[in-house]
Amino acid sequence: MTTNSSEFTPHRGGHTIVADPIARPDAIEAEALVVFLTEGGVASGSCAEIDRVTGGLLTRLVSAGDITGKRFECVPLLAPPGLRAAQLLVVGLGKREDLDAGTLYRAAATATRQLAGRARSRVALVADPAWSPRQTEQAVAGGAVGMVGQDLYRAEKKRTPARTTVWIGAPSEAVERGAAIGDGVNLARRLVNTSPDDLYPQTFAEEAAAVAGRTGMEVTMWDEDQLARERCHAILAVGRGSHRPPRLVVLRYRGDGRGDGPPDLALVGKGVTFDSGGLSLKPSESMLTMKCDMAGAAAVLGAAATIAALKLPVHLVAAVGLAENMTGPAAYKLGDVITARSGTTIEVHNTDAEGRIVLADVLDVVKGLDPRRIIDAATLTGACMVALGYDVAGLFTNDQPLCDALAAAARSVGEPVWQLPMYADYDDQIRSEVADIKNVGEGRWGGAITAAKFLERFVGGIPWTHVDIAGPAFAEKARPWTDGGGTGAMVRAFVEFARGP
Ligand code: BES
Ligand code: MN
Ligand code: ZN
Repeated sequence: MTTNSSEFTPHRGGHTIVADPIARPDAIEAEALVVFLTEGGVASGSCAEIDRVTGGLLTRLVSAGDITGKRFECVPLLAPPGLRAAQLLVVGLGKREDLDAGTLYRAAATATRQLAGRARSRVALVADPAWSPRQTEQAVAGGAVGMVGQDLYRAEKKRTPARTTVWIGAPSEAVERGAAIGDGVNLARRLVNTSPDDLYPQTFAEEAAAVAGRTGMEVTMWDEDQLARERCHAILAVGRGSHRPPRLVVLRYRGDGRGDGPPDLALVGKGVTFDSGGLSLKPSESMLTMKCDMAGAAAVLGAAATIAALKLPVHLVAAVGLAENMTGPAAYKLGDVITARSGTTIEVHNTDAEGRIVLADVLDVVKGLDPRRIIDAATLTGACMVALGYDVAGLFTNDQPLCDALAAAARSVGEPVWQLPMYADYDDQIRSEVADIKNVGEGRWGGAITAAKFLERFVGGIPWTHVDIAGPAFAEKARPWTDGGGTGAMVRAFVEFARGP
């Protein structure tokens, strides 16, 4: 199926985000007014003005030690004098010299998460004139993300987005861009948070087609018959244990105005909509969160949606491999040898190492489109979490400049990443006695790297970076800036990367 539509409507569900570049804080009618405070910064920027109109309220509270401006401190002041807002929420940013876009994203999310604890019609946040446009964008994105919880299925919601969010003193272009970035993150989060019984390969593919329709991207969707005709035996093997067959979706956004040249960038996502482990079944505790195993595909879709909404001048391909890893009667087995689309044969040693098998075919399809660069995102290995913990994504590459550029983009928006090595010696570990390669290394040591080495076999010589988001994609516990669940990890990094330095 191929369709093309060019209409874009923001998908914010009744939540409007607007800029008011010139309003004075004391004139704002809102249920809550949020002001950001750096440590020792009460006399500068927007705080100084609020301090003045409130008759020195902030100075008094800071001198008394009741407000410090420490990172993510949130102090609500009810019925503040001199303001029309019912509540003044003072949010800490930490030290002025450490302030960056990532801190602003989290600080704004912390504020709006608190305010979204009940329904409100209008909240206002004050941007500081010292922030760069990129910093303002990330604050706006964070504000949009903090308002949305993970209670899709609860009758009584824990978070309700304010009907209107106003950013005071912020340029409208930065607010519009920040809201589009927040949309991409929230889209990825919603997909991750959706129950795996509702989000499976076909319904994920339909979500992708809907996004393409809204943003004017071309969409190609392969069902199981088309996958068979295309020799995608790897993705088909993983999907065989489920009665819900796999899908492969490719979106294309031609923002470069040229048309037929090769894509500047291909984003590739692992979309295992549920990972039971297959016959190498996971224990219950490890299986519980495995609805998150499509977070790579969700990040790719969220980033593509934002890149198209921002009309970035790039030619982008976004490809996701969608399968459910289950144990049904036709399930793929240990010892099976799969011939992937590229012709490479894969001996299956563990059906729980399924993400790399799915990606083998998606990478081969993308390679055939001849992109200049490939970046994939995948909740690929528990080993990456052993190495880097919950919050840091692992990077693996065959092209150092590409990896450096992606790392810089990620860090510039506050998404922590760390590169792991790709020494040729690791290749020995995925050698098979009966096929070209096997799908796990020798034992579990270096498991994130042997997984990346497997993927490397399918990208040809194209500059490529693999991002293992097993840790950061899903928050098992709430943090000040987010309810638990899907985080939308790497959406902001990919958007920033696509914009270039
Ligand atoms: N989806 C998992 C990896 C994962 C683990 C993601 C925890 C998020 C949180 C992946 O398919 C997997 O099961 N990997 C195995 C590989 C092993 C069998 C070689 C793992 O990491 O244990
Ligand atoms: Mn698995
Ligand atoms: Zn998996």
